[in-house]
Amino acid sequence: MTSTARPSMDDATWWRHAVVYQVYPRSFADSDGDGMGDIPGLITRLDYLADLGVDAIWISPFYTSPLHDGGYDVADYRSIDERLGTLADVDVLIAQAHERGIRILMDIVPNHTSSEHRWFKELLESEPGSPAWDRYVVREGTGADRETPPNNWRSVFHGRGWSRIRTADGTPTGYWYLHIFDTTQPDVNWQNADVHEEFISTLRFWFDRGIDGFRIDVAHGLVKEEGLPDFDYPEDTDDATPPMFDEDVAHAPFWDQDGVHDIYREWRAVADEYDPPRVFCGETWVPNAERLARYQRPDELHTSFNFSYLEAGWDASAMRSSIDETIANHARVGAPPTWVLSNHDVIRHRTRMAPVGADGERDLERGLRRARAATVFTLALPGSMYLYQGEELGLPEVTDLPPEARQDPAWHRSGGTDGTRDGCRVPIPWSGDSPSYGFGPGSESWLPQPPVWADLSVERERGVDGSTWEMYRQALALRRAEPALGEGPLEWLDHDGDVLVIRRTSPDGSSVVAVLNLTDGVVRLPAHWGTEVLVSSGDDVAVMSIDEGGSFIALGAETAAWLRG
Ligand code: NOJ
Repeated sequence: MTSTARPSMDDATWWRHAVVYQVYPRSFADSDGDGMGDIPGLITRLDYLADLGVDAIWISPFYTSPLHDGGYDVADYRSIDERLGTLADVDVLIAQAHERGIRILMDIVPNHTSSEHRWFKELLESEPGSPAWDRYVVREGTGADRETPPNNWRSVFHGRGWSRIRTADGTPTGYWYLHIFDTTQPDVNWQNADVHEEFISTLRFWFDRGIDGFRIDVAHGLVKEEGLPDFDYPEDTDDATPPMFDEDVAHAPFWDQDGVHDIYREWRAVADEYDPPRVFCGETWVPNAERLARYQRPDELHTSFNFSYLEAGWDASAMRSSIDETIANHARVGAPPTWVLSNHDVIRHRTRMAPVGADGERDLERGLRRARAATVFTLALPGSMYLYQGEELGLPEVTDLPPEARQDPAWHRSGGTDGTRDGCRVPIPWSGDSPSYGFGPGSESWLPQPPVWADLSVERERGVDGSTWEMYRQALALRRAEPALGEGPLEWLDHDGDVLVIRRTSPDGSSVVAVLNLTDGVVRLPAHWGTEVLVSSGDDVAVMSIDEGGSFIALGAETAAWLRG
Protein backbone atom coordinates (compact mmCIF):
# COMPACT_ATOMS: atom_id res chain seq x y z
CA MET A 1 0.00 0.00 0.00
CA THR A 2 2.94 2.36 0.42
CA SER A 3 3.85 4.59 -2.47
CA THR A 4 6.71 6.96 -2.94
CA ALA A 5 5.06 8.72 -5.88
CA ARG A 6 5.71 12.43 -5.68
CA PRO A 7 2.72 14.73 -5.46
CA SER A 8 2.13 16.89 -8.50
CA MET A 9 3.83 20.28 -8.48
CA ASP A 10 0.67 21.65 -10.12
CA ASP A 11 -1.47 20.87 -7.10
CA ALA A 12 -2.41 24.33 -5.82
CA THR A 13 -3.92 22.84 -2.66
CA TRP A 14 -0.76 21.03 -1.58
CA TRP A 15 -0.43 23.15 1.57
CA ARG A 16 -3.75 21.85 2.95
CA HIS A 17 -2.28 18.43 3.74
CA ALA A 18 1.50 18.81 3.37
CA VAL A 19 4.20 17.43 5.61
CA VAL A 20 6.67 20.30 5.91
CA TYR A 21 10.18 19.70 7.24
CA GLN A 22 11.84 22.60 9.02
CA VAL A 23 15.49 23.18 8.19
CA TYR A 24 17.46 25.32 10.62
CA PRO A 25 20.17 26.00 8.04
CA ARG A 26 23.09 26.69 10.35
CA SER A 27 22.62 23.26 11.91
CA PHE A 28 21.59 21.05 9.01
CA ALA A 29 24.57 20.34 6.74
CA ASP A 30 27.89 22.15 6.39
CA SER A 31 29.53 21.99 2.96
CA ASP A 32 32.76 23.90 3.63
CA GLY A 33 33.87 22.78 7.08
CA ASP A 34 33.51 26.11 8.88
CA GLY A 35 31.19 24.48 11.42
CA MET A 36 28.13 26.29 10.17
CA GLY A 37 25.52 24.65 7.96
CA ASP A 38 24.88 26.30 4.62
CA ILE A 39 22.76 26.23 1.50
CA PRO A 40 25.17 24.12 -0.60
CA GLY A 41 25.10 21.62 2.29
CA LEU A 42 21.30 21.58 2.21
CA ILE A 43 21.35 21.01 -1.56
CA THR A 44 23.45 17.88 -1.09
CA ARG A 45 20.80 16.55 1.29
CA LEU A 46 17.76 17.05 -0.91
CA ASP A 47 17.77 13.39 -1.91
CA TYR A 48 17.67 12.54 1.78
CA LEU A 49 14.57 14.68 2.23
CA ALA A 50 12.93 13.22 -0.87
CA ASP A 51 13.61 9.74 0.46
CA LEU A 52 12.17 10.63 3.84
CA GLY A 53 9.05 11.68 1.96
CA VAL A 54 8.42 15.31 2.90
CA ASP A 55 6.32 17.55 0.67
CA ALA A 56 8.04 20.84 1.44
CA ILE A 57 10.80 22.39 3.48
CA TRP A 58 10.58 25.55 5.53
CA ILE A 59 14.02 27.08 5.92
CA SER A 60 14.71 29.40 8.86
CA PRO A 61 16.32 32.70 7.77
CA PHE A 62 19.53 32.65 5.75
CA TYR A 63 19.66 36.36 4.90
CA THR A 64 22.59 38.62 5.66
CA SER A 65 22.59 38.97 9.42
CA PRO A 66 24.93 39.64 12.33
CA LEU A 67 23.41 36.44 13.79
CA HIS A 68 22.59 37.90 17.18
CA ASP A 69 19.39 35.85 17.08
CA GLY A 70 20.27 33.01 14.74
CA GLY A 71 19.37 35.03 11.63
CA TYR A 72 16.02 36.32 12.91
CA ASP A 73 17.87 39.65 12.96
CA VAL A 74 17.90 40.46 9.27
CA ALA A 75 20.27 43.12 7.93
CA ASP A 76 19.23 42.69 4.28
CA TYR A 77 16.13 40.77 3.21
CA ARG A 78 17.35 40.28 -0.35
CA SER A 79 20.87 38.97 0.10
CA ILE A 80 22.25 35.79 1.58
CA ASP A 81 24.59 35.71 4.55
CA GLU A 82 28.01 34.95 3.08
CA ARG A 83 28.60 32.22 5.65
CA LEU A 84 25.51 30.42 4.35
CA GLY A 85 25.78 30.84 0.59
CA THR A 86 24.82 33.08 -2.31
CA LEU A 87 21.73 34.02 -4.26
CA ALA A 88 22.93 31.67 -6.99
CA ASP A 89 22.92 28.85 -4.42
CA VAL A 90 19.32 29.66 -3.56
CA ASP A 91 18.36 29.49 -7.23
CA VAL A 92 19.95 26.04 -7.45
CA LEU A 93 18.21 24.99 -4.25
CA ILE A 94 14.80 26.03 -5.57
CA ALA A 95 15.33 24.30 -8.91
CA GLN A 96 16.69 21.09 -7.43
CA ALA A 97 14.04 20.89 -4.73
CA HIS A 98 11.31 21.38 -7.32
CA GLU A 99 12.82 18.66 -9.51
CA ARG A 100 12.29 16.33 -6.58
CA GLY A 101 8.73 17.50 -5.96
CA ILE A 102 9.74 19.38 -2.80
CA ARG A 103 8.43 22.89 -2.26
CA ILE A 104 10.33 25.69 -0.56
CA LEU A 105 9.00 27.97 2.14
CA MET A 106 11.31 30.74 3.27
CA ASP A 107 11.05 32.64 6.54
CA ILE A 108 10.18 36.34 6.53
CA VAL A 109 10.78 38.50 9.60
CA PRO A 110 8.50 41.56 9.43
CA ASN A 111 8.20 42.53 13.10
CA HIS A 112 11.75 43.82 13.40
CA THR A 113 14.94 44.25 11.43
CA SER A 114 18.48 43.90 12.61
CA SER A 115 20.00 47.09 14.02
CA GLU A 116 22.45 46.65 11.15
CA HIS A 117 19.73 47.07 8.55
CA ARG A 118 20.26 50.17 6.37
CA TRP A 119 17.02 51.66 7.71
CA PHE A 120 18.20 51.63 11.30
CA LYS A 121 21.56 53.02 10.29
CA GLU A 122 19.74 55.83 8.47
CA LEU A 123 17.75 56.53 11.60
CA LEU A 124 20.92 56.84 13.67
CA GLU A 125 22.42 59.19 11.12
CA SER A 126 19.42 61.53 10.88
CA GLU A 127 17.60 63.98 13.10
CA PRO A 128 14.68 63.06 15.37
CA GLY A 129 11.43 63.41 13.48
CA SER A 130 12.97 62.82 10.07
CA PRO A 131 11.28 60.24 7.78
CA ALA A 132 13.88 57.59 8.68
CA TRP A 133 12.71 57.73 12.29
CA ASP A 134 9.14 56.91 11.41
CA ARG A 135 10.03 53.44 10.12
CA TYR A 136 10.66 52.22 13.66
CA VAL A 137 8.69 52.41 16.89
CA VAL A 138 10.45 55.33 18.56
CA ARG A 139 9.13 57.46 21.42
CA GLU A 140 10.48 60.06 23.80
CA GLY A 141 11.31 58.85 27.26
CA THR A 142 9.55 60.12 30.34
CA GLY A 143 10.96 61.89 33.41
CA ALA A 144 12.86 65.14 33.62
CA ASP A 145 15.70 63.94 31.39
CA ARG A 146 13.56 61.52 29.44
CA GLU A 147 15.69 58.80 31.01
CA THR A 148 12.74 56.50 31.71
CA PRO A 149 11.36 54.25 28.93
CA PRO A 150 8.11 55.32 27.26
CA ASN A 151 6.16 52.44 28.82
CA ASN A 152 6.68 49.28 30.87
CA TRP A 153 6.90 46.74 28.04
CA ARG A 154 9.46 44.01 28.46
CA SER A 155 11.47 42.01 25.98
CA VAL A 156 10.54 38.37 25.32
CA PHE A 157 14.26 37.78 25.87
CA HIS A 158 14.21 39.38 29.37
CA GLY A 159 14.82 42.90 30.54
CA ARG A 160 13.42 46.11 29.13
CA GLY A 161 11.66 46.21 25.79
CA TRP A 162 13.14 49.65 25.06
CA SER A 163 16.67 50.97 24.53
CA ARG A 164 17.86 54.54 24.31
CA ILE A 165 18.95 55.90 20.97
CA ARG A 166 22.52 57.18 21.27
CA THR A 167 24.42 59.69 19.18
CA ALA A 168 27.51 58.61 17.22
CA ASP A 169 29.75 59.33 20.24
CA GLY A 170 27.55 57.20 22.51
CA THR A 171 25.68 59.98 24.28
CA PRO A 172 22.15 58.87 25.19
CA THR A 173 19.36 60.93 23.68
CA GLY A 174 15.87 61.33 25.15
CA TYR A 175 14.50 58.95 22.50
CA TRP A 176 13.93 55.24 22.87
CA TYR A 177 13.30 52.46 20.33
CA LEU A 178 11.13 49.45 20.97
CA HIS A 179 12.54 45.92 20.74
CA ILE A 180 10.17 43.20 21.80
CA PHE A 181 13.09 40.81 21.27
CA ASP A 182 16.83 41.60 21.50
CA THR A 183 18.26 45.13 21.57
CA THR A 184 19.65 44.38 18.11
CA GLN A 185 16.12 43.73 16.77
CA PRO A 186 14.30 47.10 16.65
CA ASP A 187 10.55 46.77 15.97
CA VAL A 188 9.44 48.39 12.73
CA ASN A 189 6.47 50.72 12.55
CA TRP A 190 3.68 49.15 10.53
CA GLN A 191 1.86 52.49 10.36
CA ASN A 192 4.54 53.69 7.98
CA ALA A 193 3.92 53.36 4.23
CA ASP A 194 7.61 52.58 3.43
CA VAL A 195 7.37 49.51 5.62
CA HIS A 196 4.36 48.17 3.71
CA GLU A 197 5.99 48.83 0.35
CA GLU A 198 9.34 47.37 1.32
CA PHE A 199 7.92 44.09 2.57
CA ILE A 200 5.63 43.70 -0.40
CA SER A 201 8.48 44.20 -2.77
CA THR A 202 10.54 41.70 -0.75
CA LEU A 203 7.75 39.14 -1.08
CA ARG A 204 7.73 39.69 -4.83
CA PHE A 205 11.52 39.46 -5.02
CA TRP A 206 11.41 35.92 -3.63
CA PHE A 207 8.16 34.83 -5.25
CA ASP A 208 9.63 35.86 -8.61
CA ARG A 209 12.65 33.66 -7.92
CA GLY A 210 10.28 30.73 -7.59
CA ILE A 211 9.81 30.04 -3.89
CA ASP A 212 6.45 28.57 -2.93
CA GLY A 213 5.69 30.66 0.12
CA PHE A 214 6.75 32.07 3.47
CA ARG A 215 6.53 31.23 7.10
CA ILE A 216 5.93 34.56 8.84
CA ASP A 217 7.92 35.25 11.99
CA VAL A 218 5.94 36.64 14.98
CA ALA A 219 2.97 37.09 12.66
CA HIS A 220 0.72 38.16 15.54
CA GLY A 221 3.05 40.92 16.74
CA LEU A 222 3.38 43.49 13.97
CA VAL A 223 0.75 45.98 15.13
CA LYS A 224 0.89 47.60 18.56
CA GLU A 225 -2.07 49.07 20.40
CA GLU A 226 -2.63 52.75 19.69
CA GLY A 227 -0.97 54.93 22.35
CA LEU A 228 1.34 52.08 23.46
CA PRO A 229 -0.31 51.71 26.89
CA ASP A 230 1.45 50.05 29.83
CA PHE A 231 0.70 46.36 30.25
CA ASP A 232 -0.53 44.93 33.50
CA TYR A 233 1.96 42.03 33.77
CA PRO A 234 0.82 38.98 35.72
CA GLU A 235 2.37 39.09 39.17
CA ASP A 236 4.23 35.82 38.98
CA THR A 237 6.24 36.65 35.88
CA ASP A 238 9.90 37.50 36.01
CA ASP A 239 11.59 40.19 34.00
CA ALA A 240 10.67 38.60 30.65
CA THR A 241 7.41 38.91 28.81
CA PRO A 242 5.61 35.77 29.95
CA PRO A 243 5.20 32.87 27.53
CA MET A 244 3.43 34.16 24.47
CA PHE A 245 0.77 31.51 24.81
CA ASP A 246 -0.22 32.41 28.36
CA GLU A 247 -3.90 33.34 28.81
CA ASP A 248 -2.71 36.25 30.93
CA VAL A 249 -1.01 37.91 28.01
CA ALA A 250 -3.97 37.46 25.68
CA HIS A 251 -4.56 41.17 25.75
CA ALA A 252 -0.99 42.40 25.80
CA PRO A 253 -0.93 45.59 23.75
CA PHE A 254 1.79 44.23 21.49
CA TRP A 255 0.24 40.87 20.52
CA ASP A 256 -2.66 39.87 18.29
CA GLN A 257 -4.07 43.34 17.61
CA ASP A 258 -6.96 43.41 15.17
CA GLY A 259 -5.10 45.75 12.81
CA VAL A 260 -2.57 43.05 11.96
CA HIS A 261 -5.12 41.34 9.73
CA ASP A 262 -5.10 44.22 7.24
CA ILE A 263 -1.44 43.50 6.55
CA TYR A 264 -2.16 39.88 5.69
CA ARG A 265 -4.99 40.89 3.37
CA GLU A 266 -2.46 42.99 1.46
CA TRP A 267 0.01 40.12 1.40
CA ARG A 268 -2.56 37.55 0.32
CA ALA A 269 -3.50 39.67 -2.68
CA VAL A 270 0.16 39.61 -3.75
CA ALA A 271 0.50 35.84 -3.24
CA ASP A 272 -2.67 35.25 -5.26
CA GLU A 273 -1.24 37.07 -8.27
CA TYR A 274 1.14 34.15 -8.81
CA ASP A 275 0.50 30.88 -10.57
CA PRO A 276 0.35 28.69 -8.63
CA PRO A 277 -0.54 31.05 -5.80
CA ARG A 278 2.16 31.39 -3.16
CA VAL A 279 1.27 30.47 0.41
CA PHE A 280 1.81 31.71 3.96
CA CYS A 281 2.10 30.02 7.31
CA GLY A 282 2.00 32.38 10.29
CA GLU A 283 3.83 31.99 13.56
CA THR A 284 0.89 32.99 15.71
CA TRP A 285 1.10 32.55 19.47
CA VAL A 286 -2.46 33.50 20.32
CA PRO A 287 -4.50 32.54 23.35
CA ASN A 288 -7.19 30.35 21.83
CA ALA A 289 -8.37 28.57 18.70
CA GLU A 290 -10.95 31.24 17.92
CA ARG A 291 -8.28 33.98 17.78
CA LEU A 292 -6.03 31.66 15.77
CA ALA A 293 -8.65 30.92 13.11
CA ARG A 294 -9.01 34.65 12.36
CA TYR A 295 -5.61 34.54 10.70
CA GLN A 296 -6.88 31.87 8.30
CA ARG A 297 -9.90 33.76 6.98
CA PRO A 298 -10.15 33.21 3.21
CA ASP A 299 -8.41 36.47 2.26
CA GLU A 300 -5.60 36.16 4.84
CA LEU A 301 -2.99 33.50 5.63
CA HIS A 302 -3.37 29.97 4.33
CA THR A 303 -2.26 28.34 7.57
CA SER A 304 -0.79 29.24 10.96
CA PHE A 305 0.96 27.20 13.60
CA ASN A 306 -1.40 25.76 16.13
CA PHE A 307 0.79 25.82 19.22
CA SER A 308 -1.90 24.66 21.64
CA TYR A 309 -1.25 21.09 20.50
CA LEU A 310 2.49 21.41 21.06
CA GLU A 311 1.77 22.80 24.51
CA ALA A 312 -0.66 19.97 25.34
CA GLY A 313 2.31 17.68 26.02
CA TRP A 314 1.69 14.03 26.82
CA ASP A 315 -1.80 14.52 28.16
CA ALA A 316 -4.83 12.81 26.61
CA SER A 317 -7.44 15.34 27.55
CA ALA A 318 -5.33 18.39 26.65
CA MET A 319 -4.49 16.82 23.28
CA ARG A 320 -8.11 15.97 22.59
CA SER A 321 -9.35 19.46 23.52
CA SER A 322 -6.72 21.07 21.34
CA ILE A 323 -7.64 18.83 18.40
CA ASP A 324 -11.38 19.50 18.79
CA GLU A 325 -11.07 23.24 19.24
CA THR A 326 -8.57 23.64 16.44
CA ILE A 327 -10.56 21.62 13.92
CA ALA A 328 -13.86 23.29 14.82
CA ASN A 329 -12.50 26.82 14.60
CA HIS A 330 -10.59 26.21 11.38
CA ALA A 331 -13.69 24.64 9.81
CA ARG A 332 -15.55 27.90 10.40
CA VAL A 333 -13.11 29.70 8.10
CA GLY A 334 -12.60 26.81 5.68
CA ALA A 335 -8.91 26.38 6.54
CA PRO A 336 -6.91 23.25 7.35
CA PRO A 337 -5.30 23.02 10.79
CA THR A 338 -1.55 22.57 11.29
CA TRP A 339 0.19 20.34 13.82
CA VAL A 340 3.71 20.65 15.15
CA LEU A 341 5.53 18.96 18.02
CA SER A 342 9.02 20.47 17.80
CA ASN A 343 10.76 23.49 16.32
CA HIS A 344 13.89 25.58 16.83
CA ASP A 345 12.39 27.51 19.78
CA VAL A 346 11.18 24.69 22.02
CA ILE A 347 12.64 21.71 23.82
CA ARG A 348 12.64 18.70 21.49
CA HIS A 349 9.55 16.59 22.08
CA ARG A 350 11.51 13.46 22.97
CA THR A 351 12.85 15.31 26.00
CA ARG A 352 9.73 17.36 26.71
CA MET A 353 7.56 14.26 26.88
CA ALA A 354 10.03 12.22 28.94
CA PRO A 355 8.75 11.57 32.46
CA VAL A 356 10.97 12.72 35.33
CA GLY A 357 12.06 9.78 37.49
CA ALA A 358 12.54 9.61 41.26
CA ASP A 359 16.15 10.67 40.71
CA GLY A 360 14.98 13.92 39.15
CA GLU A 361 16.30 12.85 35.73
CA ARG A 362 14.20 12.62 32.59
CA ASP A 363 13.70 9.07 31.34
CA LEU A 364 14.74 9.60 27.73
CA GLU A 365 13.95 6.04 26.67
CA ARG A 366 10.33 6.56 27.62
CA GLY A 367 10.59 10.02 26.13
CA LEU A 368 11.50 8.45 22.80
CA ARG A 369 8.69 5.93 23.08
CA ARG A 370 6.20 8.70 23.74
CA ALA A 371 7.60 11.00 21.08
CA ARG A 372 7.37 8.28 18.44
CA ALA A 373 3.81 7.48 19.49
CA ALA A 374 2.77 11.14 19.48
CA THR A 375 4.25 11.57 16.00
CA VAL A 376 2.47 8.55 14.51
CA PHE A 377 -0.86 9.65 15.99
CA THR A 378 -0.41 13.27 14.91
CA LEU A 379 0.37 12.27 11.34
CA ALA A 380 -3.13 10.80 11.14
CA LEU A 381 -4.82 14.14 11.92
CA PRO A 382 -6.35 16.18 9.11
CA GLY A 383 -4.37 19.18 7.89
CA SER A 384 -0.66 19.82 7.53
CA MET A 385 2.16 18.71 9.79
CA TYR A 386 5.47 20.43 10.49
CA LEU A 387 8.51 18.32 11.42
CA TYR A 388 11.72 19.77 12.85
CA GLN A 389 15.06 18.50 11.55
CA GLY A 390 16.43 15.67 13.65
CA GLU A 391 13.15 14.53 15.12
CA GLU A 392 13.14 11.76 12.51
CA LEU A 393 16.27 10.48 14.26
CA GLY A 394 14.72 10.72 17.73
CA LEU A 395 17.23 13.34 18.82
CA PRO A 396 16.88 14.48 22.43
CA GLU A 397 17.44 18.05 23.58
CA VAL A 398 21.09 18.73 24.42
CA THR A 399 20.76 19.97 27.97
CA ASP A 400 24.38 20.27 29.04
CA LEU A 401 25.83 22.80 26.63
CA PRO A 402 28.69 24.71 28.23
CA PRO A 403 27.79 28.35 28.96
CA GLU A 404 30.55 29.63 26.68
CA ALA A 405 29.02 27.77 23.71
CA ARG A 406 25.56 29.22 24.12
CA GLN A 407 24.32 31.76 21.63
CA ASP A 408 20.65 32.36 22.38
CA PRO A 409 20.17 36.03 23.30
CA ALA A 410 17.61 34.96 25.92
CA TRP A 411 20.39 33.04 27.71
CA HIS A 412 22.63 36.09 27.81
CA ARG A 413 19.90 38.60 28.69
CA SER A 414 18.61 36.38 31.51
CA GLY A 415 22.04 36.10 33.13
CA GLY A 416 22.26 32.44 32.16
CA THR A 417 18.95 31.27 33.58
CA ASP A 418 16.84 30.96 30.42
CA GLY A 419 18.63 28.40 28.33
CA THR A 420 15.95 26.59 26.42
CA ARG A 421 16.71 27.36 22.79
CA ASP A 422 20.28 26.32 21.99
CA GLY A 423 19.79 22.67 22.94
CA CYS A 424 17.48 21.92 20.00
CA ARG A 425 19.79 23.63 17.51
CA VAL A 426 22.83 21.39 17.86
CA PRO A 427 24.04 20.30 14.39
CA ILE A 428 22.58 17.11 12.97
CA PRO A 429 24.53 13.82 13.08
CA TRP A 430 24.75 12.26 9.64
CA SER A 431 27.42 9.59 10.08
CA GLY A 432 30.52 8.43 11.92
CA ASP A 433 31.62 8.13 15.52
CA SER A 434 33.14 11.49 16.24
CA PRO A 435 32.37 15.18 15.75
CA SER A 436 31.14 16.56 13.49
CA TYR A 437 29.34 13.26 12.86
CA GLY A 438 29.22 13.98 9.13
CA PHE A 439 27.67 17.41 9.62
CA GLY A 440 30.62 18.90 7.73
CA PRO A 441 33.85 17.68 6.18
CA GLY A 442 35.86 18.40 9.34
CA SER A 443 35.28 18.25 13.07
CA GLU A 444 33.79 21.72 13.49
CA SER A 445 30.23 22.44 14.57
CA TRP A 446 29.07 25.81 15.88
CA LEU A 447 27.44 24.16 18.90
CA PRO A 448 29.19 21.11 20.40
CA GLN A 449 27.59 17.74 19.63
CA PRO A 450 27.22 15.16 22.41
CA PRO A 451 28.71 11.61 22.16
CA VAL A 452 25.21 10.12 21.94
CA TRP A 453 24.99 11.60 18.43
CA ALA A 454 27.07 8.61 17.18
CA ASP A 455 24.18 6.23 17.84
CA LEU A 456 21.54 8.55 16.45
CA SER A 457 23.03 9.41 13.10
CA VAL A 458 21.28 9.03 9.76
CA GLU A 459 23.84 6.35 8.86
CA ARG A 460 22.89 4.31 11.95
CA GLU A 461 19.15 4.55 11.40
CA ARG A 462 18.44 4.61 7.71
CA GLY A 463 17.54 1.16 6.41
CA VAL A 464 17.41 -0.25 9.93
CA ASP A 465 14.14 -1.96 10.82
CA GLY A 466 12.39 -0.38 13.76
CA SER A 467 14.53 2.76 13.79
CA THR A 468 12.86 6.11 14.32
CA TRP A 469 13.95 7.16 10.82
CA GLU A 470 12.28 4.14 9.22
CA MET A 471 9.12 4.75 11.26
CA TYR A 472 8.91 8.33 9.94
CA ARG A 473 9.61 7.25 6.37
CA GLN A 474 6.97 4.55 6.51
CA ALA A 475 4.34 6.80 8.10
CA LEU A 476 4.96 9.60 5.60
CA ALA A 477 4.68 7.24 2.63
CA LEU A 478 1.45 5.75 3.97
CA ARG A 479 -0.01 9.13 4.74
CA ARG A 480 0.65 10.25 1.20
CA ALA A 481 -0.86 7.10 -0.32
CA GLU A 482 -3.85 6.68 1.96
CA PRO A 483 -6.97 8.60 0.88
CA ALA A 484 -8.52 8.26 4.35
CA LEU A 485 -5.73 10.42 5.77
CA GLY A 486 -6.49 13.34 3.50
CA GLU A 487 -8.93 16.10 4.24
CA GLY A 488 -11.86 13.92 5.24
CA PRO A 489 -13.58 14.03 8.61
CA LEU A 490 -12.28 12.92 11.97
CA GLU A 491 -14.51 10.91 14.28
CA TRP A 492 -13.65 10.02 17.88
CA LEU A 493 -14.17 6.42 18.98
CA ASP A 494 -14.65 5.62 22.65
CA HIS A 495 -12.14 3.84 24.80
CA ASP A 496 -11.63 3.80 28.57
CA GLY A 497 -8.73 5.64 30.12
CA ASP A 498 -6.06 7.71 28.47
CA VAL A 499 -6.41 6.22 25.02
CA LEU A 500 -7.18 8.47 22.05
CA VAL A 501 -8.89 6.80 19.11
CA ILE A 502 -9.87 8.49 15.86
CA ARG A 503 -11.36 7.20 12.66
CA ARG A 504 -10.52 8.94 9.39
CA THR A 505 -12.68 8.22 6.37
CA SER A 506 -12.16 9.06 2.72
CA PRO A 507 -14.92 10.16 0.33
CA ASP A 508 -14.91 6.64 -1.16
CA GLY A 509 -15.62 5.17 2.27
CA SER A 510 -12.25 3.62 3.11
CA SER A 511 -11.14 4.28 6.66
CA VAL A 512 -8.18 4.15 8.99
CA VAL A 513 -8.33 4.05 12.78
CA ALA A 514 -5.46 5.72 14.63
CA VAL A 515 -4.94 4.87 18.29
CA LEU A 516 -2.66 6.52 20.84
CA ASN A 517 -2.24 4.62 24.08
CA LEU A 518 -0.96 7.14 26.64
CA THR A 519 -1.19 4.67 29.53
CA ASP A 520 1.73 2.69 30.91
CA GLY A 521 -0.01 -0.64 30.27
CA VAL A 522 -1.15 -2.73 27.33
CA VAL A 523 -4.66 -1.92 26.11
CA ARG A 524 -7.13 -4.14 24.33
CA LEU A 525 -8.79 -2.81 21.19
CA PRO A 526 -11.81 -4.39 19.47
CA ALA A 527 -11.01 -6.24 16.26
CA HIS A 528 -13.67 -4.35 14.31
CA TRP A 529 -11.47 -1.24 14.48
CA GLY A 530 -9.07 -3.08 12.22
CA THR A 531 -6.69 -5.97 12.38
CA GLU A 532 -4.25 -4.85 9.73
CA VAL A 533 -1.53 -2.77 11.38
CA LEU A 534 -0.44 -0.20 8.81
CA VAL A 535 2.20 1.41 10.96
CA SER A 536 3.00 1.50 14.65
CA SER A 537 5.40 3.40 16.85
CA GLY A 538 6.59 0.27 18.67
CA ASP A 539 6.75 -3.44 18.04
CA ASP A 540 4.36 -4.42 20.82
CA VAL A 541 1.17 -4.45 18.83
CA ALA A 542 -0.38 -7.79 18.03
CA VAL A 543 -3.58 -9.43 16.91
CA MET A 544 -4.64 -11.85 19.66
CA SER A 545 -7.10 -14.72 19.25
CA ILE A 546 -9.79 -15.43 21.79
CA ASP A 547 -10.52 -19.08 22.76
CA GLU A 548 -14.19 -18.80 21.91
CA GLY A 549 -13.33 -17.42 18.48
CA GLY A 550 -12.70 -13.85 17.33
CA SER A 551 -9.78 -11.64 18.12
CA PHE A 552 -8.65 -8.30 19.55
CA ILE A 553 -5.64 -6.06 19.18
CA ALA A 554 -3.19 -5.68 22.05
CA LEU A 555 -1.45 -2.33 21.85
CA GLY A 556 1.56 -1.78 24.06
CA ALA A 557 2.09 0.98 26.62
CA GLU A 558 2.79 4.44 25.23
CA THR A 559 2.39 3.25 21.66
CA ALA A 560 0.40 4.42 18.64
CA ALA A 561 -0.79 2.51 15.59
CA TRP A 562 -2.85 2.96 12.45
CA LEU A 563 -5.29 0.10 11.82
CA ARG A 564 -7.41 -0.93 8.91
CA GLY A 565 -10.31 -3.37 9.03
C1 NOJ B 1 10.29 33.61 16.54
C2 NOJ B 1 11.43 32.80 16.03
O1 NOJ B 1 10.99 31.49 15.82
C3 NOJ B 1 12.52 32.91 17.06
O2 NOJ B 1 13.56 32.00 16.83
C4 NOJ B 1 13.01 34.32 17.08
O3 NOJ B 1 13.97 34.48 18.10
C5 NOJ B 1 11.86 35.29 17.36
N1 NOJ B 1 10.70 34.99 16.58
C6 NOJ B 1 12.26 36.69 17.03
O4 NOJ B 1 12.43 36.83 15.65
